[in-house]
Amino acid sequence: MNANNYKQALLAATEVLYTEKTDYLALSTAIKAYKELLLELSALDEDTSAAREDIHHANGKALGTFWAALCVDDIIRTKQFVHGIYNAIDDLKQEGKQKIHILYAGTGPFATLLLPNMLRFPKDLISYTFMEINPISMEGIKRLLSKLEMDDYAINFVSEDASTYQIPEAVSYDLIISETLQAGLAKEQQVAIFFNLMKQSSTSTIFIPEKIELQLALRENGIAAELLTSAHYSRIATVFEVSKNAWNGYLKETSTSVQDRLLDKVDTLVSKDAMNSANTLFLLTHLQVYKEYQIGINESSLTIPLYLNSFSATEEKDRTIQTQYIIDENPRLEVQIL
Ligand SMILES: C[S@@+](CC[C@H](N)C(=O)[O-])C[C@H]1O[C@@H](n2cnc3c(N)ncnc32)[C@H](O)[C@@H]1O
Repeated sequence: MNANNYKQALLAATEVLYTEKTDYLALSTAIKAYKELLLELSALDEDTSAAREDIHHANGKALGTFWAALCVDDIIRTKQFVHGIYNAIDDLKQEGKQKIHILYAGTGPFATLLLPNMLRFPKDLISYTFMEINPISMEGIKRLLSKLEMDDYAINFVSEDASTYQIPEAVSYDLIISETLQAGLAKEQQVAIFFNLMKQSSTSTIFIPEKIELQLALRENGIAAELLTSAHYSRIATVFEVSKNAWNGYLKETSTSVQDRLLDKVDTLVSKDAMNSANTLFLLTHLQVYKEYQIGINESSLTIPLYLNSFSATEEKDRTIQTQYIIDENPRLEVQIL
């Protein structure tokens, strides 16, 4: 296939990602076709031990290329991000922007979440900054774009750590994308990356995901896994939020950046009545990718409920749950039941 045929094949394979309703069979077939093209174009050798090695940093780990490549298979995640990003770019266009600058922090080897959109918008409309800390992944995306003969797109490749990167003074991004998270905002660097980029961005910059919330919830015991739905979890409180709004709130409390200090501890009171009717405590991750493009509980590996604790079914007093988000080499929400 030549570059043009590959582009047509990519457009055809990803068409289903833009439908409003989700046909799971059609979507998983489409994702399979999309991934085959990505692997072929990037000529990725996933079988080396180097490609499987995560890179560990002061603010959390960055996935090895093999693992980053697997993310595409998380089908609802991939659909909601690709479609949400399309709409965000379209909204910027509708606002009359003649030139849109996008930073994609953590492209992985394929720039999975952006590539279908690059092929759908005029190339002169957008300039791109592709940031990736893993050199093997960076080589993959470069090979892929070159095979597609996209060298005439305005793409700046930056091999830096997005959690500490200093945005050059003359540069301002309209849209910043990063999907560097796992359920519970554990292990990876999403929070440090977004806080670092939010503190340097203008108020009009769109961040995708737009909002990530960690929530405490109670669930009844004994419901078969295949029957569980979001409705079985009764939310107690959102204990941590990553969004531009929340970031502004954190800033008001301190003159220094959030990254230079510990984030506050949050106390949540759970009543004995609530624990007596549903006594298993979970941590939920709610993801608003962009506006109505959201990822619900259990729709993706990113939104799997994490078990925290089982209370007795006859608790006699209310309990306090203390939580604190920690940014270090193993980012996590620390939970203490007092
Ligand atoms: C979960 S993968 C997602 C890959 C791709 N964006 C996708 O959604 O399919 C995250 C990627 O971000 C990169 N990454 C993680 N932390 C980073 C950081 N601090 N700076 C730059 N890239 C980072 C990892 O190396 C990995 O390739």
